[in-house]
Amino acid sequence: MAGITDRPFRRLARRFGAALAVSEMVSARPELRASRKTRLRLDHAGEPGPISVQIAGADPAQLADAARFNVDLGAEIIDINMGCPAKKVCNACAGSALLADEALVARILEAVVAAVPVPVTLKIRTGPSPERRNAVRVARLAESAGVQMLAVHGRTRACLFEGHAEYDTIAEVKSAVRVPVVANGDIRTPDDARRALERTGADGIMIGRAAHGRPWLYGAVARYLASGEQVPPPAPREIGRVLIEHLDGLYDLYGHEQGARVARKHIGWTVRDLPGGEALRSTVNGIGVAGAQRAAVNDYFERLAA
Ligand SMILES: Cc1cc2nc3c(=O)[nH]c(=O)nc-3n(C[C@H](O)[C@H](O)[C@H](O)COP(=O)(O)O)c2cc1C
Repeated sequence: MAGITDRPFRRLARRFGAALAVSEMVSARPELRASRKTRLRLDHAGEPGPISVQIAGADPAQLADAARFNVDLGAEIIDINMGCPAKKVCNACAGSALLADEALVARILEAVVAAVPVPVTLKIRTGPSPERRNAVRVARLAESAGVQMLAVHGRTRACLFEGHAEYDTIAEVKSAVRVPVVANGDIRTPDDARRALERTGADGIMIGRAAHGRPWLYGAVARYLASGEQVPPPAPREIGRVLIEHLDGLYDLYGHEQGARVARKHIGWTVRDLPGGEALRSTVNGIGVAGAQRAAVNDYFERLAA
């Protein structure tokens, strides 16, 4: 997730039990490679493998070149974004806009698979719109091109994030191809994960928004799927410890000022259901530097634990 799954978040997600944590999407445009934003998105220091980097673009040769560039920087898996509905991305005919042009999808996938020696995976939505759900055709194209895993978000591009994810199309994709299929969309709890697996027959599940402020969710879901055991949510003291670790990671990656700005949303998500969480959120929104922000969060959790 762009703006969320940076290195500090991915490290927490992996440590808590996510099997794979894909980078934020990085643009395939070579002129953006030197930008600070792209450089930070490509920072994988200290991350456990496999390092999966998602690339976004619309031009086959440019995407192939971006794939090579990222493999040279340490990517062990290249993931291609054909799932993002954001205007900024779709106006450049990238992300989920590509699903409307199956011939171009095939050319992109063939070019990227041929360009790199590492596995190439693909993230899609179920089609451009509910009237044109072409995920099965796209999945077959992907498999023929040599794509080794597919993640399918059960909404179309036109649906944005509205309504509910539907799993029937994901089930059709799963029956149509032999490569592993990962089901995605609206999985919030271990029970949701089990239902999504049962409904789709998928080989795995992907969780995005439900893990905002709750990176331990990945482990709770993994444990439940493996053993049926429901893991209780962490106690406030443990939540505080995880959040401080997350903040330190953000300050380290982005520097103290930008790090404090990036941290605000993570703090807000973490404390949204805790007593006095709203007050802490307003307080940290008024703090622009890391030291004071960290101290406010620390004090809050010490009071909560007491
Ligand atoms: C803030 C945000 C950023 C996202 N960025 C990306 C992205 O960079 N690449 C991608 O493939 N999907 C991206 N997504 C989509 C998610 O990966 C996922 O498909 C979607 O949120 C549905 O899953 P969920 O219901 O578990 O959140 C993003 C979603 C959100 C909310």
